[in-house]
Amino acid sequence: MNTYSSFQKHLQNELADIKSAGLYKNERIITSPQGAEIRVSTGQEVLNFCANNYLGLSDSKELIEAAKQAMDSRGFGMSSVRFICGTQDLHKQLEAAIAKFFGTEDTILYAACFDANGGVFEPLLTDQDAIISDSLNHASIIDGVRLCKAVRYRYANADMADLEKQLQAAQEQRFRIIVTDGVFSMDGNVAPLDKIYELAQKYDAMIMVDESHSAGVVGKTGRGTTELFNLKGQVEIITGTLGKSFGGAIGGFTTGKKEIIDMLRQRSRPYLFSNSIPPSIAGAGIKMFEMMERSNELQDKLHSNTDYFVEKMKAAGFDIKPTQSSICAVMLYDAKLSQDMASKLLDEGIYVTGFYYPVVPKELARIRVQISAGHEKAHLDKCIAAFIKIGKELGVIK
Ligand SMILES: Cc1ncc(COP(=O)(O)O)c(C=O)c1O
Repeated sequence: MNTYSSFQKHLQNELADIKSAGLYKNERIITSPQGAEIRVSTGQEVLNFCANNYLGLSDSKELIEAAKQAMDSRGFGMSSVRFICGTQDLHKQLEAAIAKFFGTEDTILYAACFDANGGVFEPLLTDQDAIISDSLNHASIIDGVRLCKAVRYRYANADMADLEKQLQAAQEQRFRIIVTDGVFSMDGNVAPLDKIYELAQKYDAMIMVDESHSAGVVGKTGRGTTELFNLKGQVEIITGTLGKSFGGAIGGFTTGKKEIIDMLRQRSRPYLFSNSIPPSIAGAGIKMFEMMERSNELQDKLHSNTDYFVEKMKAAGFDIKPTQSSICAVMLYDAKLSQDMASKLLDEGIYVTGFYYPVVPKELARIRVQISAGHEKAHLDKCIAAFIKIGKELGVIK
């Protein structure tokens, strides 16, 4: 046997294990634009309740037009990293627009938020410093922390007593940074940034918030958790994505204090060693933030859609985790039930995802529903009716 045949056998066994554990990921193929109503490759038309398309902008005519115009005027690709010959006026304009939106001093773009989080710690902190990270932070934060030599502390999800304990333990280090997701994507809960801020003041720590699931969603005008807790401009670092609320294409950013952003431009590896985002994405991004400045209509619609959905689902007897975002976790507590229910809902034309261990803790299986400003009342009503029908059929509600 050569090396590959033994490695092949090894992979085949691992893949078989993944399948037998019921954890094998299959892709469902969509043949229409992303939106509230989509068509899948079987020809079935379904309502989409599992995209991060919170503001319903993934198929926005205005963004598509802006992307086309940018492509016509600035070309298709950059063929370069930013600091060699990959920076156009559009990149600088988009960075300024993001800083204006969040009320921060400067912004650096990345190809994705995964890169923003992967490249934020190592250039700024050394083994003399401490990173204190929420236990439910996104994988990209975990990977970013791993790439940095700072001493690591972890606190239980949104548990302020535990955070305080970790901050006390981290007093030996030179600089401390508390790192949290703005919204935790499995439960939809918001990080208690007001309390985090108080502890940061008390124990002399900086704060980094990943607003990927909160930007566009949380706060009256969708500026995220710093808006919700009246802390605009008060946290040192915000990271985020253009891949969810903000049109859903691709792109990430770090925005915050001027010197931090400047240092990232000098030393952040995914910025220095990876291609610039294409002109079409930068052009559409500028248009997107213009739209955000112009009106609050989409955020208002998203908030009222979410309130409507949660209220009706609770009235029907479903157990919904308390949410301050547009993520609604319908608790089922049983892995098989979560899969059966998602599959029956799909037969009813409702596309949602069931999550179970290890994605969520054992015994806390659920269906995650994501509400969008792209949903109309009729979409929400159809989804609620399908949940009630299948919920009764499976004995989830009476
Ligand atoms: C909290 C959080 N951070 C970062 C990311 C990664 O964002 P991107 O898709 O831009 O790499 C995600 C996406 O799943 C996320 O949920």
